[in-house]
Amino acid sequence: MSDISERRKPPRDESRRDFLYYATTSAVVVATGAAIWPLINSMNPSADVSAQAVVDVDLEGVGPGTRITVKWKGKPVFIDHRTTERIELAQEDDTVPMIDPEPDAARVQRPEWLVVVGVCTHLGCIPLGQGGSEPVGDWDGWFCPCHGSHYDTSGRIRKGPAPRNLDVPPYEFTSDTRIKIG
Ligand code: FES
Repeated sequence: MSDISERRKPPRDESRRDFLYYATTSAVVVATGAAIWPLINSMNPSADVSAQAVVDVDLEGVGPGTRITVKWKGKPVFIDHRTTERIELAQEDDTVPMIDPEPDAARVQRPEWLVVVGVCTHLGCIPLGQGGSEPVGDWDGWFCPCHGSHYDTSGRIRKGPAPRNLDVPPYEFTSDTRIKIG
């Protein structure tokens, strides 16, 4: 295998992938406080899933290499505090042929933070890759097991039937350690 291939599959650091039970505070329903989004392998939006239009996320303590999932409008949003290696993997591939070409810089506001809607753009399954033991696909991003879509470290579709990259939700940094989604 080439050096490139080796870089596609860096040594796994299971600890850094440990899922954080992560609290978010709705800017809309302040009184209700936190919403918890546990590790999700499947999701059925249901009546009890509130459609919080704006979610304030505290990133304090989310170290490099950690991925967390928060809920926004009833959907999972993946937030990846990308390592330098993951950033480089994404940027190095900016010019290679892709199903839905898009430079990494167009998908992030700050290179170290990737924020994407965690819903496969094929038929809506929740891609794997957030949890420590989950497959991350051939590009160290996410893997949708429903029909085999592979996403890279920028959330771009690289292989499989999904027609486009994972969506980037509207969000903004309200400080160095907080973002507001929605
Ligand atoms: S829903 Fe993800 S590959 Fe089909």
